Amino acid sequence: MEQIHCGLLYGGRSGEHEVSLRSAASIFRYLDRNKYFPVPVGISKTGDWFFQTFESCGGPSLPLEQAEENRVTLVPGRGFFVKGAQLRLDFIFPVLHGTFGEDGTLQGLLDLMDIPYAGPGVLASALGMDKEKAKFIWHYSGLPVVPSVCLSKTEYAGNPASALAAADKLCLPLFVKPVCAGSSVGIAKVKSAGDLHAALSSAFEFDTRVLIEKAVSAREIECSVVGSGEIRVFPPGEVIPRHEFYDYSAKYTDPDGAEFKVPARLTAEESARIREIAAKAYQVLDMSGMARIDFFIEKHTGEIFINEINTIPGFTDISMFPRMCEAAGLLYPELLDRLIELGFERHREREALRFSL
Ligand SMILES: Nc1ncnc2c1ncn2[C@@H]1O[C@H](COP(=O)(O)OP(=O)(O)O)[C@@H](O)[C@H]1O
Ligand SMILES: [Mg+2]
Repeated sequence: MEQIHCGLLYGGRSGEHEVSLRSAASIFRYLDRNKYFPVPVGISKTGDWFFQTFESCGGPSLPLEQAEENRVTLVPGRGFFVKGAQLRLDFIFPVLHGTFGEDGTLQGLLDLMDIPYAGPGVLASALGMDKEKAKFIWHYSGLPVVPSVCLSKTEYAGNPASALAAADKLCLPLFVKPVCAGSSVGIAKVKSAGDLHAALSSAFEFDTRVLIEKAVSAREIECSVVGSGEIRVFPPGEVIPRHEFYDYSAKYTDPDGAEFKVPARLTAEESARIREIAAKAYQVLDMSGMARIDFFIEKHTGEIFINEINTIPGFTDISMFPRMCEAAGLLYPELLDRLIELGFERHREREALRFSL
């Protein structure tokens, strides 16, 4: 069987560039060479695309060389080019976390280039990135979300007291977070009203809209979902942050920042309820391919809330998303097979549509 030339897009302009290099190293390593020929294309922090010439990678991060002669150019309707020659890409695996990778922008570009790719399409990706719009849809679909108020930069500049009113309504402590971001960047826990403005200014550096959310004293539960239409919801896992919350350093810089439990220690009812909510949360956002859905379980009341959804979750072989799949028997290389298959399926379905009379 001829190998599928599978592009790995990694790096990128978001704050999660380094995380992407690590996710990409695992995917590069585990892609079954009998079926796939990996074509690594690194995206620099400034957004430039470079074809990579290495053939193996032993380290934890995929290298990203920025050699001018290997710059990749895109011609809509024609394809991807390096040194004037067309780069064969049958499929793309976007291994880009956060803005310009996970938020629908790249998915739109790949749709225009008419190339199949892993993960959800434009709308679902954009909704997955937008914490306010996702929560809005979940709430109106009868799914439990943490109460919050969304403020725009203009609203807040015109009426700074609006933030205090929101804090009064929700009650301290609160979480302040950019609507579209990730890896906990720009997020702060606010314990006194005096700290609210500093938290907002920092969050507004990352987005023009910010969520002020009631802080939940919670266990953090995560759930992998794979599929399109017919979906598979995996048994949940648990993240136990050793910091005040699961902040950037607990996620990436402090090796003892968090403990992971796969599967999570939950009662059968809790686990079933979370999986049921995860399935619905996935479907109402029109997800396809994959997502990791993150939950809170209130420590005292046991109340369950959906926190957020990640459409290109951390993908190192020790990341929660693949680990939760593996624990239920879907091993990393087979997970990659399945995601590629789902990407091709979605592309075929779209190809069968008419876009004009
Ligand atoms: N409402 C909340 N109550 C308690 N903890 C929260 C709340 N919102 C966020 N957190 C903490 O902050 C972390 C990051 O927030 P999250 O909304 O998941 O953003 P990101 O997309 O950056 O991961 C969470 O994993 C959790 O530890
Ligand atoms: Mg999160």
